[in-house]
Amino acid sequence: EKGGFKHFMQKEIFEQPLAVSNTLLDRLPLDGGGVPLGLAFTDEELRSFQRITILACGTSRHAGLVGQFYLEQLARIGVEVDYGSEYRYRDPVVMADTLAIGITQSGETADTLAAMKEAAARGARGMAICNVQGSTAARLAEATLLTHAGPEIGVASTKAFTTQLVVLLLLALRLGEARGTLDPAVRAEIIQALRELPALLERVASTERKIHQWAQKWHEATDFLYLGRGPLYPIALEGALKLKELSYIHAEGYPAGEMKHGPIALIDRHLPIVAVMPRDAHREKVLSNLQEAAARDGRILALVEEGDTGLDHIAEDVLHLPKVNPWLAPILYVVPLQLLSYHIAVIRGCDVDQPRNLAKSVTVE
Ligand code: M6R
Repeated sequence: EKGGFKHFMQKEIFEQPLAVSNTLLDRLPLDGGGVPLGLAFTDEELRSFQRITILACGTSRHAGLVGQFYLEQLARIGVEVDYGSEYRYRDPVVMADTLAIGITQSGETADTLAAMKEAAARGARGMAICNVQGSTAARLAEATLLTHAGPEIGVASTKAFTTQLVVLLLLALRLGEARGTLDPAVRAEIIQALRELPALLERVASTERKIHQWAQKWHEATDFLYLGRGPLYPIALEGALKLKELSYIHAEGYPAGEMKHGPIALIDRHLPIVAVMPRDAHREKVLSNLQEAAARDGRILALVEEGDTGLDHIAEDVLHLPKVNPWLAPILYVVPLQLLSYHIAVIRGCDVDQPRNLAKSVTVE
């Protein structure tokens, strides 16, 4: 049942190229057409939305934070992202023409469902991004976009996350088309990059050997700091969450620019800093944040693009990833972070598929 892998989590990490291609199947536009998402909303309705509220928990909320970049930049709609567990307790202001999107792998997370119901009761239109057909979230929402990741057994979410990012990007393209906010050249580049994504994910999976070496070297650290900027900032949060839940090592994720407002005080030669720095619009800023960290003896492990030598002098370990369209970098760069937490947890003797105190779907408040 684990198909030759030691754990479901490892199998699911390696299934990501397939999960992504299944999620893209029949959803990329043919010549001249729009993105065929089969949404239950008309173009007129898509144009009428003034605001998007994303409601989710844990890893699914991190997907929502990347989605915020996609939707704001490609569809020019203001997006807020909230915790399922917080939303309904702050007497939320729901403006007319709000679209509330619940993101949930299982479709059964109590906090997310309660938040979706709260938004609907206050007049928002509802959508679910979900991996389980017929789940409660899918039944609650007016429109559902399924991630076709296949069953996710490991408690740590991996392939559900990457397919959520794919669906959010497709949704941003679809909304951008309906609203006339999409630059045709950007649209064409993203669609081409999506076609190439499964093959790129295959290549990234082959970094496992090197990541395993990193895990052997770093598994005794007691704290980790993860840094990224722009759409890679949620990937830093996700890397830290994966490490915490699997290996029980304390880890924090931060937007790299926020480091100087507090976490910089933590930095010394005992603190590994995992940096995600693709060649995107934020690269120079991240680089200067990392120079600050290195000047304080922080030990840097970096994920950068092939050929990028900018961190060679300050990072202790560098992993090079294939060149990728910046919109897709979050989907690619999260994979080595999943592998890093997986291997550190295995080396530490943790139960990766069933970490202590956690359940696959949290159906209580
Ligand atoms: O099924 P959901 O996506 O609604 O689950 C939300 C979280 O409970 C889930 O992502 C959790 O954070 C995972 N254990 C993360 O790996």
